Amino acid sequence: PADRLWYKHPIDRVEGTWIAIALTWCIILFAMMTGWHIWGKQNLSTETYRSTSAQFMEKTQAMVDKYTVRTETEEKIPVVAPPAGSDVYLLARLWSFWPILELEKDKTYRLHLTALDYNHGFSLQPANINIQMVPGFEHVVTVTPNESGTYSLVCNEYCGLGHHRMVSRLYVK
Ligand code: CUA
Repeated sequence: PADRLWYKHPIDRVEGTWIAIALTWCIILFAMMTGWHIWGKQNLSTETYRSTSAQFMEKTQAMVDKYTVRTETEEKIPVVAPPAGSDVYLLARLWSFWPILELEKDKTYRLHLTALDYNHGFSLQPANINIQMVPGFEHVVTVTPNESGTYSLVCNEYCGLGHHRMVSRLYVK
């Protein structure tokens, strides 16, 4: 019968209170995420394109072949100094970044990022920029480093057993 339909029943006061609490909490969380994004420079908006790992690796490898200046770390990761103003590529995978970029101060680059296997993070410290690297997508941001130094690059998305040691660096000269 019609009077047993759920939407014909009045909302109980206790239930109403809990609905109000839940809605308020939703609003607070969304406000925090918005603030985190806008003022916290976290999860920046990027131009995003679909891309396969193979396509991305090809472009990265081409840059590495052309502009490697030395290798660093035990794993001999290439340090790449691409010309000012060019497109630069950085990939993330379990559990490293590749290659190491060396950029020039006050020059503008198009930074292309992707992950080859799982979600990884591009967290640049102390600049405190964070971008998610999602497999299957190429994220492009225009960057103009305005302070020279060695920046720490940290994976900020939990990506398994080696997550805590997924760190690299980025040079600005
Ligand atoms: Cu990659 Cu955490």
